Amino acid sequence: MIRYNTNNLMSLCVAVGILANIYIVTRLTIGFKILEDFPQIQEFPSRCVIDEDYFLSFVESRRVTELKEKVFLKNNNDKTVQLKLFAFQSAGLGNKLFEIISLLGIANSLQRRPVIDATIPSNIRSLHKSIQPLFPKLVEQFDLKMIPASSVSSHQMNWVKCCIFDDPKKMLNRSEQHLMLNGHYFQSFKYFHHLRSEIREWLAPSKMAKLAAETVLTSELKEDLIICTHIRRGDFQTDGVHQPSDPNFTRAATDFLVKHYQKWHYRTTVVVFGNDVNFSKAVFEDRVSNSSVIPNRTTPPLNFPIPENSPKYSVILPQNSTPENDLAFSRQAPSSTFGWWLSYLAKRSAVVYYRDIRETKDKVINDMNPNDFYPPEWIKLGTRPNGDIFKF
Ligand SMILES: *[C@@H]1O[C@H](CO)[C@@H](O)[C@H](O)[C@H]1NC(C)=O
Ligand SMILES: *[C@@H]1O[C@H](CO)[C@@H](O)[C@H](O)[C@H]1NC(C)=O
Ligand SMILES: *[C@@H]1O[C@H](CO)[C@@H](O)[C@H](O)[C@H]1NC(C)=O
Ligand SMILES: *[C@@H]1O[C@H](CO)[C@@H](O)[C@H](O)[C@H]1NC(C)=O
Ligand SMILES: *[C@@H]1O[C@H](CO)[C@@H](O)[C@H](O)[C@H]1NC(C)=O
Repeated sequence: MIRYNTNNLMSLCVAVGILANIYIVTRLTIGFKILEDFPQIQEFPSRCVIDEDYFLSFVESRRVTELKEKVFLKNNNDKTVQLKLFAFQSAGLGNKLFEIISLLGIANSLQRRPVIDATIPSNIRSLHKSIQPLFPKLVEQFDLKMIPASSVSSHQMNWVKCCIFDDPKKMLNRSEQHLMLNGHYFQSFKYFHHLRSEIREWLAPSKMAKLAAETVLTSELKEDLIICTHIRRGDFQTDGVHQPSDPNFTRAATDFLVKHYQKWHYRTTVVVFGNDVNFSKAVFEDRVSNSSVIPNRTTPPLNFPIPENSPKYSVILPQNSTPENDLAFSRQAPSSTFGWWLSYLAKRSAVVYYRDIRETKDKVINDMNPNDFYPPEWIKLGTRPNGDIFKF
């Protein structure tokens, strides 16, 4: 990381500009345009900080093919749009995906170029460390630039609340060249649903993840109807906002779906994904076919009686699973963004069920318009007072 103090800001920024420009020139021929505004501007970015190591390795591994002019721009305008990328500072993968994909969706709606500010260290670090390795195509869909803050027109949008749709169309008549939409999370499918097939392509799994996903199911199970249950525990147990998956609901909802689908399909197999295999094992203790490799019940024990009238099925708990493998294979913590993406990217024929967030104590409900967060084709499940599950 290189930081420049303010005394030397001007001269060092010029130096960075020149270095970067040399770098750019070599890249320009292959369609990579960074810092293109640099020579023309009189004034240098106020934050003259670039995380050089990440930046260079990130740029190096961006695919250096001629970038086919993106689906994005019908006319050749050079108007840009940026989001604050608030979640890039510390949030998890699901949150980051929402912001970056909402940026692409909004840019498309406004017919502007999607831009990510290369001077913010958390931007480059996240792109390089958590997004590029999983989704190399995704990081080619936007421009990386340094645009001086004084030429960017900033507007509040999707302010504070995570999961609402704040229609970007109200920015359509803006004439400023550079827009910054200054908001948080942008967690609504309505920002990008019109690009769904492109999104599936941008988030296509790597070959490795695909192979790992193939091994989850042995060949004799491949014809089964597969129900994927996603659980989310970990930090959701303690962060004071989210509710972790609940053992009673997880089991009851899985049993409900198995019964429902066993009417048509003889064999059903359940694959449980998530970030707590001990919890999954405890909830499906009597259904896990290969438990020898899995640790024992959670401590402290879950307050959870195994139900008596459970249909017959077998459960697979993928070992050493990683988020990208889980994604490649494609929910129940009501506000898990990762579960959301698992569902959104699942094969087209998949049917998605989710728990009615209103029946949990999940505080995200206060920041959410469920109609903006859950696509209408997803099916909501609720719990009756006696514990039975029903479809809305
Ligand atoms: C854009 O249109 C809205 C009303 O539709 C208006 O209030 C606003 O002033 C316009 N903005 C610009 C920059 O023209
Ligand atoms: C699961 O249990 C094992 C041993 O019982 C423990 O080492 C591990 O940390 C537990 N994992 C989680 C996610 O709690
Ligand atoms: C169960 O797990 C062990 C250890 O990984 C493996 O050797 C064995 O083949 C597995 N059995 C089944 C039925 O999958
Ligand atoms: C789980 O518990 C059983 C019996 O209590 C014990 O034999 C086994 O070694 C334990 N497995 C692990 C992975 O700790
Ligand atoms: C699960 O259900 C049982 C019986 O209905 C109840 O006693 C227990 O408190 C529930 N557990 C949780 C974690 O809500």
